[in-house]
Amino acid sequence: MKILMAASEAAPFAKTGGLADAVSALSLTLANMGHEVNIVIPRYFVVDKVRYGLKDLNLSLSSQVGTETAKCAVWTVNMPGSSKKNPVKTYFIEHDEFFGCREGFYGYDKEPDYFDNPRRFTFFSRIIFDLCRKLNWFPDILHVHDWQTALASVFLKYGERRGGFEKTSSVLTIHNLGYQGIYHKDNFPNTALGWDVFYQAGFEDWNMMNFLKAGIHCADKLNTVSPRYAEETKTQAFGFRLDSSLRYRAEDYIGILNGIDGKIWNPKLDPFIPLKYTVKPSKLEREKSIVGVAVGKAAAKAALQRQYGLPENPDVPVIGMVTRLAEQKGMGELFGPSYGSAWSICRDMELQVVILGKGDSWCEHEVTSLASRLSNFKARILNSETDSHLIEAGSDFFLMPSRYEPCGLNQMYSLIYGTLPIVRNTGGLADTVENFNQDTGEGTGFIFDQLNPRSIYDTVGWANWAYYNCRSQVEAMRVRAMKKDFSWEKSAEKYVEMYKAALRK
Ligand code: ADP
Ligand code: GLC
Repeated sequence: MKILMAASEAAPFAKTGGLADAVSALSLTLANMGHEVNIVIPRYFVVDKVRYGLKDLNLSLSSQVGTETAKCAVWTVNMPGSSKKNPVKTYFIEHDEFFGCREGFYGYDKEPDYFDNPRRFTFFSRIIFDLCRKLNWFPDILHVHDWQTALASVFLKYGERRGGFEKTSSVLTIHNLGYQGIYHKDNFPNTALGWDVFYQAGFEDWNMMNFLKAGIHCADKLNTVSPRYAEETKTQAFGFRLDSSLRYRAEDYIGILNGIDGKIWNPKLDPFIPLKYTVKPSKLEREKSIVGVAVGKAAAKAALQRQYGLPENPDVPVIGMVTRLAEQKGMGELFGPSYGSAWSICRDMELQVVILGKGDSWCEHEVTSLASRLSNFKARILNSETDSHLIEAGSDFFLMPSRYEPCGLNQMYSLIYGTLPIVRNTGGLADTVENFNQDTGEGTGFIFDQLNPRSIYDTVGWANWAYYNCRSQVEAMRVRAMKKDFSWEKSAEKYVEMYKAALRK
């Protein structure tokens, strides 16, 4: 099958969150299964052409944005990790005004949502068609991700299913319903579609223009990134006002759990941790200096404590976090100025907390301030791939108190590294973590239902208590967690089934 992934991020080139990981890992897996997969993303300022060895295709692409014709160049390179036989080609749309001349992808501190985002992503969603025509390469499946590229499925349905695209079907993956691309409808003329389409294609949203809603109405098939979140999003509580649209498309809408990239997230191969480890190393693995989980995690924990300036104590549990500092992730309940639970957790319990994150400025400020007042709470406000690996390996527990979580990758990374997640019972967290049962010792983590500071406090307290009082059960949970299979292969099979169903439509 020929598949074009149209996305606003793809790791390692451009990443703000799990979307980037998911797009690249799914593409590589599909290519390994024999499919022909290309990815197209914008060439942002941060995508360094020299560092990544991008090549200019010397093509001039153009597409209509409103009454103007916007022109752009296109660069390419094979996705790192591709096989030689069947590489995933990544195409970068180069338009300086829209993407190349600014640092953020979607905004920056002073302007979290760039005023011209509707124009930028309308352009991007349309230029894809010219790219394929100029390459003379037409996909069977146009796979779009989130609101930023949702419009491509609308363009396919209204006007572009011609000149090579006659047999193409579209699939929309919703990675996060909390971001829909809702703008004033004055932006609609950018699409160069008639106003009749505004209503027919489902753009209309209380007199505003909703990019994701139109994608939900127009894509041939839809999915989100875990079965539980697929169910939740059809309810008012989690539907962000699009629950009725999703119920309307229920027959075409499923949940497929993300996988994780086992080459990058694997304690047996990880170059960013002091000792590579596995549950029980074989003779061959021992010869390659791969150690058992207890030794490997102890070394990682000591390195983590050292690097973050915590007392190097193997007997105190470390709670790790790697996260966007955003409301979605439960940051209000954890760090909210007057009622956050992080302060009381660190004050009352014998433990250490390490957090790596960037995001909302109020939260960055609170986290920094807390770190200056508590000796057992350390934070780094930055993005760091190396630190994130060390935290996954060196922590005893990993905290993710998400308000909602479409899938969540970090809790899966944690499990594979033998770090027990403390999570809220929602979305992909609920689909991947099993609650500790004190009587039987079963489970892989600690789960709570209600999102409030008290529940977070109590559940961290429970994990902390188990660390000191049920040590053998905790160690057995680590081994069980590490044996979980989150490979992309299983999920990619489900995507292929969905693609086939889209083509049948
Ligand atoms: P989301 O996409 O909603 O932020 P996910 O759990 O799906 O949540 O994915 C988050 C991804 O971003 C993970 O790969 C995680 O390691 C990474 N990440 C988040 N914050 C940071 C950070 N400060 N430094 C490095 N990686 C980070
Ligand atoms: C989104 C979601 C996250 C998911 C990721 C990749 O950013 O918030 O839960 O894991 O996309 O699909």
